[in-house]
Amino acid sequence: MEYKALVTEETGEGYLSSIKTLDSEQLPIGDVLVKVYYSSLNYKDALSATGNKGVTKNYPHTPGIDAAGIVELSDSKEFKAGDQVIVSGYDLGMNTAGGFAEYIRVPADWVVKLPEGLTMKEAMIIGTAGFTAGISVTRMSELVKPENGKIIVTGATGGVGSVALSILNGLGYETVAVSGKSSEHDFLKSLGASEIITREEFAQVDKRPILSSRFAGGIDTVGGPILENVLKTLNLLGAVTTCGSVSATQLNMSVFPFILRGISLIGISAQNYPMYLREPLWQKLATDWKPAHLMELYNEITLDELVSAIDLILQGKLKGRTLVKIQ
Ligand SMILES: NC(=O)c1ccc[n+]([C@@H]2O[C@H](COP(=O)([O-])OP(=O)(O)OC[C@H]3O[C@@H](n4cnc5c(N)ncnc54)[C@H](OP(=O)(O)O)[C@@H]3O)[C@@H](O)[C@H]2O)c1
Repeated sequence: MEYKALVTEETGEGYLSSIKTLDSEQLPIGDVLVKVYYSSLNYKDALSATGNKGVTKNYPHTPGIDAAGIVELSDSKEFKAGDQVIVSGYDLGMNTAGGFAEYIRVPADWVVKLPEGLTMKEAMIIGTAGFTAGISVTRMSELVKPENGKIIVTGATGGVGSVALSILNGLGYETVAVSGKSSEHDFLKSLGASEIITREEFAQVDKRPILSSRFAGGIDTVGGPILENVLKTLNLLGAVTTCGSVSATQLNMSVFPFILRGISLIGISAQNYPMYLREPLWQKLATDWKPAHLMELYNEITLDELVSAIDLILQGKLKGRTLVKIQ
């Protein structure tokens, strides 16, 4: 059977991506063949499509860490033809051919049944970025409650940041957004942000080891000096999650905020989030944690439009989530 996929190839001039027709015989070995209806664009896909060997070692390769679709063939008792499913994380789109294709074949233990309350399209508007926002809010809310004070969200117009703002708003948290996009303040306010701090202002390095406390908690998606400033301005017993490094991978600060204010820095890994936690979180995202602003949070593109969207996400220019309609 032939199917269409985005294929990234290593050439003498770098990494080039284009739509190709492939044969399903070339799909990886796996228990479940899924006809993909929707995927989504995540920052990691852009790294995979531009030759980042930390994400993808071998090319030619089809990126796409997210897929929602319908099971076509299954060797697993857990799934049958016709089941609507979500596949995200694990090795999908990294070193296993991913969701920027009409078909994927994966191990059954990577597959989640689409929960009631979510369509395949909604699941991919959430996608890995929104799921990461869900994990981040889960972990932060174990330590910080709405009555404790304001929550700062960085990279706020991005995929993780925008979904985090919407979920936090639904849970009754007051949020403050850090954003580099002056044109998107109305968008951030519509997601519930009560205040917006410019990225330029918040990225200033202040060498003092600890600063006046301002925030009860934080969801950081960018790392570097911005995360340092969040950590230095957390209240007593505050907590911030860290999932991304679009600004920088290094943290260059002292331990003083940790040992004087008892704050927590919580690492987030969506890729390896275990199935016994993954399924219940998808259930939550389909029900009480379903982001109220889901339909305002995305832009829909086709496989053919992916190459230019990949360029834009690498430049930090995309807003919200980018849904990829496959079928
Ligand atoms: N650990 C995990 O499991 C996990 C899962 C998903 C994503 N991630 C990571 O989380 C990060 C965010 O992912 P995403 O999907 O939200 O990406 P995204 O949609 O590209 O959003 C990132 C946002 O960061 C801000 N930004 C861009 N360049 C910046 C810079 N140089 N300095 C500071 N801020 C900058 C922009 O928002 P503003 O213009 O509003 O500032 C941008 O929209 C990425 O590093 C991604 O790889 C990790």
